[in-house]
Amino acid sequence: MRLVLVGPPGAGKGTQAEVIAATLGIPKISTGDIFRANVGHATPLGVQAKAYMDAGELVPDEVTNDLVAARLSETDAAQGFLLDGYPRNVSQADVLAENLQRAGAGLDAVVELAVDAERVIERLLSRGQGRVDDTQDVIRHRLEVYVSETEPLVGYYRERGLLHSVDGHGTVDAVTARILEALKA
Ligand code: AP5
Repeated sequence: MRLVLVGPPGAGKGTQAEVIAATLGIPKISTGDIFRANVGHATPLGVQAKAYMDAGELVPDEVTNDLVAARLSETDAAQGFLLDGYPRNVSQADVLAENLQRAGAGLDAVVELAVDAERVIERLLSRGQGRVDDTQDVIRHRLEVYVSETEPLVGYYRERGLLHSVDGHGTVDAVTARILEALKA
């Protein structure tokens, strides 16, 4: 299965991606995690990405697209993958579609995790992982970026018949069950 998880910051993408990928036996590919690991090791990619991430801005598309293309060409992703946090705008979605098409593949499903803005703010403020982008101001900005850049993907994938919108409120287990049910359909 080739899957994409879309949703606002704090919707639970990372939490659900972990469980769903393990259940389906496919690798979870999180651009946020990859960027944070690079920031942590102060690699050239991390140095480049840090200022954007700290400000809640998207890392430039060329950087992100190349990173994902390289990761998807690894052997463990040949039979499927779950993308968490990518694509994040229509331009990234077009590049992903072109790259998959070139490899004779395509996405099977896109899951939108729908959670209210107030609830995601609460979740992120109480996350307690020391993320520089989890301050009130940066969270608000990340939500604005989500609405202007990423939310249009919901319509983009609906038009292509790939979208499954799932209620992301409730317990982690309840949300996982909804996602797996949506994927069965
Ligand atoms: P990224 O790491 O993708 O951050 P995000 O989208 O803002 O999402 P979060 O990781 O904050 O939240 P999540 O939806 O994964 O929720 P989580 O499971 O953690 O990106 C960070 C930055 O990297 C971006 O701002 C950008 O700069 C850059 N970047 C990444 N991808 C990019 C791309 N494609 N293009 C350009 N730039 C990119 O859950 C949140 C909290 O809620 C946790 O504490 C969790 O325990 C809790 N929680 C989860 N589910 C529940 C539940 N059901 N009930 C109660 N609490 C819950």
